[in-house]
Amino acid sequence: MPKPVYVTTPIYYVNDRPHIGHCYTTCVADCLARAHKAIGGASFLLTGTDEHADKVVTSAKDHDVTPQAWADRNAAEFKAAFDFMGCAYDDFIRTTEDRHKTKVLEYIRTLQKNDDVYLGEYAGWWDPSQEEYLTETAAKEAGGVSPVTGKPLVRRTERNYFFRLSKYQAALEQHIAKHPDFIQPEARRNEVMGRLRDGLQDIPISRPITDDPATQWGIRMPDDPAHRIYVWIDALFNYLTVVDTPERKDLWPAHTHFIAKDILWFHAVIWPCLLTALGRELPGHIYSHAYWVRDGRKMSKSLGNFVTIEVLRAYAAKFGRDALRWYLLTQGPLGATDADFSHAKFVETYNADLANGIGNCASRVSNMIEKYFDGKAPGHGGTTRFEPPFVSPTDTVFDWKADTAGFVREAIARMRANDNAGALQQGTALITRVDGFINATQPFKLAKKLDEDPGNRAKLGAILWCCAEAVRVASLLLAPAMPEKMASLWKAWNCAPAAGVTLDEAARFGGACALGEGAGIAKGEALFMRADAAEAPPA
Ligand code: MSP
Repeated sequence: MPKPVYVTTPIYYVNDRPHIGHCYTTCVADCLARAHKAIGGASFLLTGTDEHADKVVTSAKDHDVTPQAWADRNAAEFKAAFDFMGCAYDDFIRTTEDRHKTKVLEYIRTLQKNDDVYLGEYAGWWDPSQEEYLTETAAKEAGGVSPVTGKPLVRRTERNYFFRLSKYQAALEQHIAKHPDFIQPEARRNEVMGRLRDGLQDIPISRPITDDPATQWGIRMPDDPAHRIYVWIDALFNYLTVVDTPERKDLWPAHTHFIAKDILWFHAVIWPCLLTALGRELPGHIYSHAYWVRDGRKMSKSLGNFVTIEVLRAYAAKFGRDALRWYLLTQGPLGATDADFSHAKFVETYNADLANGIGNCASRVSNMIEKYFDGKAPGHGGTTRFEPPFVSPTDTVFDWKADTAGFVREAIARMRANDNAGALQQGTALITRVDGFINATQPFKLAKKLDEDPGNRAKLGAILWCCAEAVRVASLLLAPAMPEKMASLWKAWNCAPAAGVTLDEAARFGGACALGEGAGIAKGEALFMRADAAEAPPA
């Protein structure tokens, strides 16, 4: 059994319900986990919920339920959302689970034993309306009032346990220098390196417990019931608690933690330093993508412009879930630039890549095979290379074995580099090449001349077999984004890759998994119907 590639998402706060942002990161991680499974045989996707935040208590109170009941309710919403999005997570961690809490205490004890944690005093600007401290700079910039509510900030001092973050600065800097792709994309790496130049301060990792019920929610510090572990420290440990068991210990270190830019510092600085202090290996990559925005504006509660789970469900109901995944994965903010969720762009992408792309190409090919070869895959008679002249004079040689191998190689390289949009693009480019080949060789015209030359039938068979085989290869590259649709194509074409066969092998043109001569190629239902751009967005 190969070592599974371990991929994670942030664990999401359960004070509210999931929206496009949460679904997006989980989809990205799911797509890459599926890709790694195809490439190397095994992957492990972890997602879950972060439940000990103060805002969970506040929100629960507003709804007149206990924090645990509120967390249960919303954790179920997150699970349902990810199930609906087709994210095949291998585990779902909730920080209120015992398996997590026990391990967190172990880690804190280890840090204490190694003198990485000490009791100290923290003085800072407290925003009572938001229940959070502001940095000196942020407090100054806000003019001594809460930037959110405008209420005055209070100078507050509290006793906290501190983690000696400063002790690990040099080690972290060395690691980043030695592993240029530790923090991805590059813009985020530069941002972290810039901030590191200001120097790291030790950070509080606990919060005092008072009479306020909100302060009683969380994991207590070991041997000190007057403090609880700061929710962020509790949360970061989830990546390790889940796999720190005899059965799963080989999963660590994680391949990639997918997150967005909002929580970069915690993941790219605090988390690696905590791991180093614990003597654990560091994850391969921290991938911090940008944001979905809507109509050019940040999504926020006050603007009421979130792309909610209901909006996503409406899109899936109209266009298919895999089409929604496709749009998010190929047009989303994977790099450093925010992406706009726009209906017009959705329809444009859907038509170009799916309805007029793989959908149309697969039906063109299966229609011709049905018409000219009774719906059975023809043989290629050894011909997989086609030389000009073609109808379109610009086309050069189509050498399908070499051409497809190039697309597959590039797709695998992109998947390995966490560039899912780039990897998927290889699948679409291959489909475009098949379309180009059909236009260049015009099999439908050749089919009218079967009586003219006995060789024409063999030639037609070779052309159509190559088209179908290339579509099959493309479908394997597109499957991490569209597992359901590609599975239905494989069913219609009798070509589902057998379990355990690696992508390299499965996608070899004419290889062991190729379309066999005589295998049924059913027309099946159209994979994607064309969308009308003039129609109103689904609601
Ligand atoms: N609980 C912490 C994370 C702890 S991880 C150890 C948290 N939770 S959150 O519910 O606020 O989720 C933040 C994450 O949701 C982002 O990092 C990102 O993955 C996703 N998104 C939330 N809004 C987003 C957009 N508008 N666009 C894209 N993704 C965003 O922070």
